[in-house]
Amino acid sequence: MKYKVTGGHPVSGRIRCNGTKNFANKAMVAALLSDQPTTLHNVPDIGDFDITKDMLKSIGTEIEYDKANRSVRIIPSSIKTSNVPMPHSGSNRIPILLISPLLHRFGEATVPLMGGCKIGARKVDFHINAIKAFGGNIEETEEGFVATKTSDLKGTHFELPFPSVGATETCLFLSVLAKGTSVINNAAIEPEIFELITMLRSMGANIFAYPGRKIRIEGVDKLRGTNMHILGDRIEGASWACLACATDGEIVVDGIRPDTLGNFLSHYQQIGGGYELLGQDSIRFYRNEPLKPTMIETDVYPGFSTDWQQPFAITLTQAEGVSIIHETVFEKRFGYLKTLKPLGVSAQITSYCLGTPSRFQNKNLEISAIITGKSELKAVDEIEVPDLRAGLAYVIAAAIADGTTMLTGIHNIERGYGNIAERCKGLSLDIERIA
Ligand code: EPZ
Repeated sequence: MKYKVTGGHPVSGRIRCNGTKNFANKAMVAALLSDQPTTLHNVPDIGDFDITKDMLKSIGTEIEYDKANRSVRIIPSSIKTSNVPMPHSGSNRIPILLISPLLHRFGEATVPLMGGCKIGARKVDFHINAIKAFGGNIEETEEGFVATKTSDLKGTHFELPFPSVGATETCLFLSVLAKGTSVINNAAIEPEIFELITMLRSMGANIFAYPGRKIRIEGVDKLRGTNMHILGDRIEGASWACLACATDGEIVVDGIRPDTLGNFLSHYQQIGGGYELLGQDSIRFYRNEPLKPTMIETDVYPGFSTDWQQPFAITLTQAEGVSIIHETVFEKRFGYLKTLKPLGVSAQITSYCLGTPSRFQNKNLEISAIITGKSELKAVDEIEVPDLRAGLAYVIAAAIADGTTMLTGIHNIERGYGNIAERCKGLSLDIERIA
């Protein structure tokens, strides 16, 4: 399948954000910490969610999925095995997170290797060290990971070397059912982490958050099932905002909580974007004035998210002057700028930290981008989409470019955003999904 995008016109209209994949999938895993049913609402109709659903089913979890109403009921009492089969190998980032609930329940867990976007080394050493610190044993094999425990997991004090989202989730999953008190220091505090904490609390977990990235957990013996609404995808929200601003259109985005867009909104205003809050989860985005260049450094929350940099970079191609983006979270996240050169994107990638020195300094990694605008983008016959988050950036670039561009590799987009052509019906974007 391909997307045929004919660009060169302002894109206006209205679109609803999906529930965020980066919480929906974790909420599915959290549901396995109880043996009672949990219902999740506003789940996204995307490939990555299907992958997680299938993974859960493969160990015997009963799942009632109501696609029309975007809800899923997870019944973990039917789980039969702690061995997640290998066909899921390489599919997404969930296998390592499944270890904790399975370890609590069965005393052992076998999970396949991780997949996900190739945007850096994406090591799982923090997860492994956390499992060991809580008293578990874990070994990496050619096919994945095998974890065991000889007695109940015990609360511990664990300091994350970097505020990793996934490793903070692993620590939460380990600690809520561990014996005694746990403290996670240098924890991630992304909105999705706090949604997860809210969900775990509603299941009966005792979690206390403190200033300075510190979370204390008092373990309990059992958790109950719950009902949870999946919050709107702030990455998607920012992407639609960029589409409006970059094409000089006007888009109303529904289903997004403005507070989750944090610093994005300020950077957006600074480069010449405008927005108006229309209600508690609707925002109208537009271009306010000719776009100006800027300097941005990606960071962990509350900084400018690494997942916002791709659509923002494409928007900056329409600003008059030189912009700089310094990526500090993943070390290989600018490949898409090189691939977009044929459309007329003018970007130079360098291994220097053009900003605050990061842990990637002096390692010859591609961590800073210098974008020169304004570029008149022109359509090309075909471009392959290499990863999920670059996906919407490609759609935005094709929407700016004069003429028709075919996007291939669209499974990468659909894994995180669903069928974009179908979802863009309320927008004046000329996009078709073709065989
Ligand atoms: C989550 O990835 C998201 N994925 C990412 O979104 C997002 O970009 C990222 O958090 C940062 O916000 C999901 O939630 C599924 P990390 P995660 O652990 O948890 C290093 C998307 O497309 N690290 O916070 O995998 C790691 O290499 C994706 O939706 C270790 O070194 O990210 C990275 O440099 C793309 N060892 C940094 O920490 C570890 O054990 C942050 O990674 C764990 C992480």
